[in-house]
Amino acid sequence: MSGEFTTIEDARDRLARVGYLADEPASLVSFLAGRLGKPVLVEGPAGVGKTELAKAVSRATGRRLIRLQCYEGLDEAKALYEWNYRKQLLRIQTEAADTGWQEVKDDIFGEEFMLARPLLTAITAEEPVVLLIDEIDKTDQEFEALLLEVLSDFQISIPELGVVEARTRPLVLLTSNNSRELTEALKRRCLYLWLDYPDIERELEIVHLHAPELDQSVARKLVEVIHMVRSLDLKKPPSIAESIDWARALLLLGAEDVDQAVLEKTMSIIVKHRTDLDLVAERVGVKLGDGLFGRQAG
Ligand SMILES: Nc1ncnc2c1ncn2[C@@H]1O[C@H](COP(=O)(O)OP(=O)(O)OP(=O)(O)O)[C@@H](O)[C@H]1O
Ligand SMILES: [Mg+2]
Repeated sequence: MSGEFTTIEDARDRLARVGYLADEPASLVSFLAGRLGKPVLVEGPAGVGKTELAKAVSRATGRRLIRLQCYEGLDEAKALYEWNYRKQLLRIQTEAADTGWQEVKDDIFGEEFMLARPLLTAITAEEPVVLLIDEIDKTDQEFEALLLEVLSDFQISIPELGVVEARTRPLVLLTSNNSRELTEALKRRCLYLWLDYPDIERELEIVHLHAPELDQSVARKLVEVIHMVRSLDLKKPPSIAESIDWARALLLLGAEDVDQAVLEKTMSIIVKHRTDLDLVAERVGVKLGDGLFGRQAG
């Protein structure tokens, strides 16, 4: 089944069928976004499934995914459209010398000479799409202002061509790692979803989905260790992405338990800072060695 989500449960079930286990808030905003025609701003730490949610919504609704990856210095020309200068130049060169300027001008500022970038592509698509504006916090406030115009009016004005109106309404998801505070103006126009690290049971389901062959008791211990590691004061706590990588690695290594030796050997898959490695070895490794771990965590 594709098309819009009809209820919160429908959103949850169809997202699960395409491999995304959404909790209640995520199912709710996915449902409401389509119904209210509002963009969703998804915030949260790295690796908790922000980008994947947009991809899953695209798969579940059968809408094409158009992605705008943000970075510092991203501008109109890369986000909206730009003129294809080379092609324009070629056209000018091939015009007969006696062609009037007006004629040439009308010609070279037509759609044929335009390069559509993600935002323009998304609003002019024949079929409604999912538009992912990934890592919006990497851009500056000027870009945010530009985006507001598109997201509230669903139109883009091109001086040489006039106003291009949306043919269809894209379902818009913006993600942010919170590296800077976004403007109130942007937040006001969006539904808000805070994605956090999942609880043990949900993370276990996610790990199982991505590494189904891993023994359930190993998987559970792995997730418990991850949760314990997250509770330490680390520079960069392990994300869901790291849990999945670790599960796959343990599977390849044929590990039958997550004990001190296994942790020490494979720790660099889940923590990636020198000082974090030391801390985890000291605090979690020792606990696993003592056999105290299970009693405390479970
Ligand atoms: N609820 C979920 N169900 C299934 N898989 C998930 C879920 N949440 C996260 N994942 C998996 O975790 C990994 C990381 O997700 P993703 O790349 O979307 O994180 P992110 O929040 O966008 O991270 P970053 O901020 O680093 O871009 C992916 O492999 C994704 O499939
Ligand atoms: Mg991401």
